[in-house]
Amino acid sequence: MKRNPPASSKLGFAWAKGDWPLACRAMKVFVTGGAGYIGSICVEQLLDAGHTVVVFDNLSEGHRSAVDERAMFIEGCLSDRETILNAVASNQPEAIMHFAANALVGESMTNPSKYFRNNVANGINLLDAAVEGGVRKFVFSSTCATFGVPETMPMTEALPQNPINPYGESKLIFEKLLRWYQELHGLEFVALRYFNAAGASEKFGEHHRIETHLIPNVLKVALGQAKECKIFGTDYPTPDGTCVRDYIHIIDLAQAHMLAMEPGKNGYYNLGNGEGYSVRQVIETCERVSGKPIPAIEEPRRPGDPPRLVAGAQKAIDELGWKPQFASLDQIVESAWRWHQANPNGYPD
Ligand code: UFG
Repeated sequence: MKRNPPASSKLGFAWAKGDWPLACRAMKVFVTGGAGYIGSICVEQLLDAGHTVVVFDNLSEGHRSAVDERAMFIEGCLSDRETILNAVASNQPEAIMHFAANALVGESMTNPSKYFRNNVANGINLLDAAVEGGVRKFVFSSTCATFGVPETMPMTEALPQNPINPYGESKLIFEKLLRWYQELHGLEFVALRYFNAAGASEKFGEHHRIETHLIPNVLKVALGQAKECKIFGTDYPTPDGTCVRDYIHIIDLAQAHMLAMEPGKNGYYNLGNGEGYSVRQVIETCERVSGKPIPAIEEPRRPGDPPRLVAGAQKAIDELGWKPQFASLDQIVESAWRWHQANPNGYPD
């Protein structure tokens, strides 16, 4: 398959040509949420790998300028059943990647209705569009938040799923729908349960209109846009009392999506690096990478946060052939820092 040169190659990332874990042939891929943080970088990576991409996004969270100019763009909302049915039927994609969703743990605790309506009910319109449009493969952006507070670590796919927030519950419900659509309609699926997506490519990065995520908020202090960052909870049962998360580079996440498109790949996969970092360790890493002091203030716990989430991703490595390239927190923060320095105000729209 002919490949375009990777847009991220100038980052100094160590992609050896020919080493990319790619789907075997070029496909037409329909990407919902392709203007959002994770979606936009998956779109870029798909295009770099020679695939054709149609982005469907309502721009409520995403940015028009985050959509790679090589992709076709449709502005639309998954709540509009006719629009999504027509968009899929008229484009005839072989695969759908479904990123469009609300994804904030804290917000889901105060507005559960938003999460169940958008992440579940609106998603059903997309599933129906996939079936009617004869789509072969559905790749779903799921989350480790479907597990709740795990009994053992690292977290493998075998653990029970008991979400502790409506966000995780909404994603778990959708995972279950996928099983039935496969069984009853033959729609093959892969659900990828991300741990904490972070980092950037050269061109695209993390810009939420209201930023709640740890790394971009900490880097705002390094950029001089905030006086201090906040630590939510210092009394967790973890070595330094702050929450521990498994951060995964956005480009490694994108590669997993491409592998998931291959025929015969099917099921549920946890995606992380198997290494946990506390909030305090993330702040220290950001200080080291940016070379700036980053003062932090201690705040109470944020509702809905599990103390520790660390992935066991051996299944993805064995079955998808996934090979994370940027596993260290330093590499992840370095790429985020480069992007935020180049785009201190994020996207213009
Ligand atoms: N945190 C702070 N200060 C901040 C922001 C976050 O201390 O300013 C803490 C949080 O309380 C949490 C940790 O940093 O303990 C990570 O928080 P994020 O908001 O960056 O990420 P979450 O773990 O809450 O959630 C993210 C995604 C979800 C996904 C989840 C999987 O937003 O969609 O990772 O772990 F499900």
